[in-house]
Amino acid sequence: MLNIAVLVSGGGTNLQALIDAEKKGIIKSGKITLVLADRLSYGLERAKNANIATQLLDKKSLGRKAFESSLLDTLSTHNIDMIVLAGFLSILSPLLISKYNDRIINIHPSLIPSFCGKGFYGLHVHEAALSYGVKVTGATVHLVNEIPDGGRILLQKAVEVKDGDTPECLQKRVMEEAEWIILPQGVEMLAEQLSKEIIK
Ligand code: GRF
Repeated sequence: MLNIAVLVSGGGTNLQALIDAEKKGIIKSGKITLVLADRLSYGLERAKNANIATQLLDKKSLGRKAFESSLLDTLSTHNIDMIVLAGFLSILSPLLISKYNDRIINIHPSLIPSFCGKGFYGLHVHEAALSYGVKVTGATVHLVNEIPDGGRILLQKAVEVKDGDTPECLQKRVMEEAEWIILPQGVEMLAEQLSKEIIK
């Protein structure tokens, strides 16, 4: 059974979808054994409510270098096999990305390659989609490499943009109809594949 760490920065609704998916048996090739936040976030409360170990590494007070080394130490102390970025806003160090090569998965709230890369996070993604006037947006689950939102795409799900949408209501629809569905699916896909590799 793989040990999965979920990294959060915000409300943790994607984390909640993962916790619920594990309970329902949708995620069965791994277990969420750590939730780590780079700032105080409600995601830590959701983890505590689900009896999952938590770690707060406050990047602002630690500074970048101490944050990056503490993150590596915490992941190895917990024998983490796979990392999920669920609304995580800190950039991972090249050292961490190479150590967990092809074992880090991210959810991005658009259909990559649209509206992704530097500066495209949270509501900004939906503001850009609305100002461009796209009729369809959605979410993407992809592997993480050194290019922001640049890794191999695993899953995508489209969501209709409706007349009069605000960034807030579009974000909610993308979360409900796409993110919370494909992230658990993507986590199970990668965990199953990694479990087979480890058994070999
Ligand atoms: C949201 O903007 C979501 O679209 C993106 O990260 C942000 C926070 O999500 N994936 P969460 O509620 O913390 O999972």
